[in-house]
Amino acid sequence: MPAEQQRLNCDYLIIGSGCAGLTAALKAAELGSVLVITKKTAVECSSSWAQGGIACVMDSDDSIESHVQDTLKAGAYLCKEDVVRRIVGAAPARIEELVELGVNFTRQRDISEDGSDTMAFDLGAEGGHSRRRILHAGDISGREIMRVLIAACQAHDNITLLENYQAVDLISSRRLDWDGPNRCLGAFVLERRTKTVHTILSRFVILATGGAGKAYLYTSNPDVACGEGIAMAYRAYCEIANMEFYQFHPTCLYHPMAGSYLISEAVRGEGGVLKIKRGKEYVEFMDSYDSQASLAPRDIVARAIDRELKKSGQPCVYLDIRQHSEEFLRKRFPNIYATCEQFGCNMATDPIPVVPAAHYCCGGVRVDIDGVTCIENLYAIGEVACTGLHGANRLASNSLLEAIVMAHNAVEHSRGVFNDTDRRHIENGSRPVLDWSKGDATDPDELIVIYHNWDEIRRFMWDYVGIFRTTKRLQRAKTRIRNIRKEIEHFYWDFLITADLIELRNMASVAEMIIDSALARQESIGLHYNADYPVADGKLSEKETILHRPGFHRELY
Ligand code: SIN
Repeated sequence: MPAEQQRLNCDYLIIGSGCAGLTAALKAAELGSVLVITKKTAVECSSSWAQGGIACVMDSDDSIESHVQDTLKAGAYLCKEDVVRRIVGAAPARIEELVELGVNFTRQRDISEDGSDTMAFDLGAEGGHSRRRILHAGDISGREIMRVLIAACQAHDNITLLENYQAVDLISSRRLDWDGPNRCLGAFVLERRTKTVHTILSRFVILATGGAGKAYLYTSNPDVACGEGIAMAYRAYCEIANMEFYQFHPTCLYHPMAGSYLISEAVRGEGGVLKIKRGKEYVEFMDSYDSQASLAPRDIVARAIDRELKKSGQPCVYLDIRQHSEEFLRKRFPNIYATCEQFGCNMATDPIPVVPAAHYCCGGVRVDIDGVTCIENLYAIGEVACTGLHGANRLASNSLLEAIVMAHNAVEHSRGVFNDTDRRHIENGSRPVLDWSKGDATDPDELIVIYHNWDEIRRFMWDYVGIFRTTKRLQRAKTRIRNIRKEIEHFYWDFLITADLIELRNMASVAEMIIDSALARQESIGLHYNADYPVADGKLSEKETILHRPGFHRELY
């Protein structure tokens, strides 16, 4: 027997349980009831996998201005400077909150000139940063932050955390043909265990669904990263920006069983050097690409590796950190050390075989500094959003920072409009929100279609829309995705929806947005490299590539 459909009400519906979503939940819980839904378990998110840490100016030798300049430079100056200043400037206050909540960032003994003996934060270095400014918890920074956030949310009376609940679609007034500006009313949500779609109505909805690395064959992301927030927001008539800027992390472990396990940039921060094998020798190559060599920003490093691999025909390059002792490496990188060892590589004695993999979506739902989208009562925060902080390429360890700052800003914004947005906004006597109806849909007859389409998308995205693009490849990808999308839509409307089908539909939609944005940007800048336009043409580059669903009219919002 299928379970009963339910209709739930809350003040805040938060979709996604990563660092952004849970930080927002804790803050929103001071104002009202909070429902956090997550499609698997709360820990299954990209935040949990973050190794490097959070960039924040902590040292008297460092300055906010220097962090701002590093961010702008890494972003190829396509970042929105005011946003960069606001987010970077807010970092110390937000970090203090995390520390108060109980996050244990790694510290080290610091004896100053006046003889005082303290335990100061151990600040890491990463690519593109001109100073050591990465707060970390060993090499499991994300896991440590998530440990604290999950415990705090579970202990809070105003927060309900529902695991294995997957958002199907946003409910918006525009789609119900209501008068007035488009506003978000809640979401339809699939309870994965019972396959029942519930209706959740909420005063505010906060999208915190993370990125879309699963659109590519090789990714450092967990399986949940299918881009649902971006796809749902697009369908609800939000603007989507800068999807051509997909970041490839240069160093994932090259091993058939390692599943693109990330080797943190912090390894290069501690002196790791990228090398290529020539005969029996390991030879450095990054020094011929950039003055910052192995610590250049990620777009430069990933592209250089791609070029070296294509030139040499080798399957991987190597990260050499053998200058450090086993004792140091085991202490600084306990998790990476153990994982490499498990796959037959002792990083104290062997160079680590590495390849690039899709890592971070610099584009997303277009928002302002408060996470406000163009739909009333809908916010987007974290990787799902495009604030303008990252520009054409994200600076390492700026993402967890953006997540906590934007969670704070979005809830503060909602505080200001909380009383204007009473529950009446989700009621309309003449056209009520109807529950999800499955119509004549039947059980899917051929699930193989889902898995086949899934594999095909990920492969051609890797081959045609990856680190190195050409217009012809992008056009090929466009033709393929168009056909696949048609097939998926047919499946979606004729058969009962499943968790896999929802993910596939969203991922295909996001893949198409990446292709469309890449075709639209006819230049090479930051993470977007098109060999048909190898250099920017000297004109000022457009800061944003904006997509929206046909039927979008700015004056309606
Ligand atoms: C890493 O540890 O290299 C990842 C950090 C990030 O993506 O910012």
